[in-house]
Amino acid sequence: MSAGARDRDRLSGHAYWQARAQLMGARAVVNVDHDAGATLDAVTDGHRAVLLPAIAALLDGSERAVLDLGCGTGRFTADLAALIGGRGIGVDPVAELLALAPASPDVDFRLSVEGEALPLADDEVDVVMTLTVLGGLLQPGELETMAAEVRRVLRPGGLLVLAESVSEQAEVEHWTPRTAAEYAEVFAFAPLREVARFDDAGDPISVLAGRSAG
Ligand SMILES: C[S@@+](CC[C@H](N)C(=O)[O-])C[C@H]1O[C@@H](n2cnc3c(N)ncnc32)[C@H](O)[C@@H]1O
Repeated sequence: MSAGARDRDRLSGHAYWQARAQLMGARAVVNVDHDAGATLDAVTDGHRAVLLPAIAALLDGSERAVLDLGCGTGRFTADLAALIGGRGIGVDPVAELLALAPASPDVDFRLSVEGEALPLADDEVDVVMTLTVLGGLLQPGELETMAAEVRRVLRPGGLLVLAESVSEQAEVEHWTPRTAAEYAEVFAFAPLREVARFDDAGDPISVLAGRSAG
């Protein structure tokens, strides 16, 4: 099947994650290959144990706002706000997932719309973080468009942290693993280096970080 035919056959990212949320509830945001006996809290604790110290080590104390891009149910948005001692903004296109996000006075959740700009002002945040989001951007040019939006909302000198699958396995239905070098090329405005790595149900997740040159 050609790439074009394959792309037409796919649900859009929004439709896919919405259907998955309706089917799986809060569990929709984690890898389906996690053992059914592993609770969502246990999986989240495992992610938190790697991600938060890795980000904490990169902060310079000037941060006031952090974007959890593709936050899903906001598993980490309040943690990120607490880490910087400031405000967390969680953005996701799936209302069903945002509805499950825990309320916190330091956090606001915003619904994004597929194909539109992110619901943030220019330079609004000091940190942008993704956790297993960008692999779901499948359409030609979609990752590049997202990178331009991240560049717009992240202030010059701000910190970008991408925790994404770098599996070398072939792409699966709704996931396109990319290499760290591919992410580095697309997000060249914030030169990325690997600061941590962890296994997520057999999927290697690389935590890539860099500061925006503006
Ligand atoms: C695997 S889940 C991860 C959610 C969250 N980062 C976490 O770790 O709990 C992928 C998320 O990306 C979101 N997503 C899909 N397309 C997106 C887009 N274009 N912009 C922002 N988020 C998107 C989905 O709705 C879903 O919540």
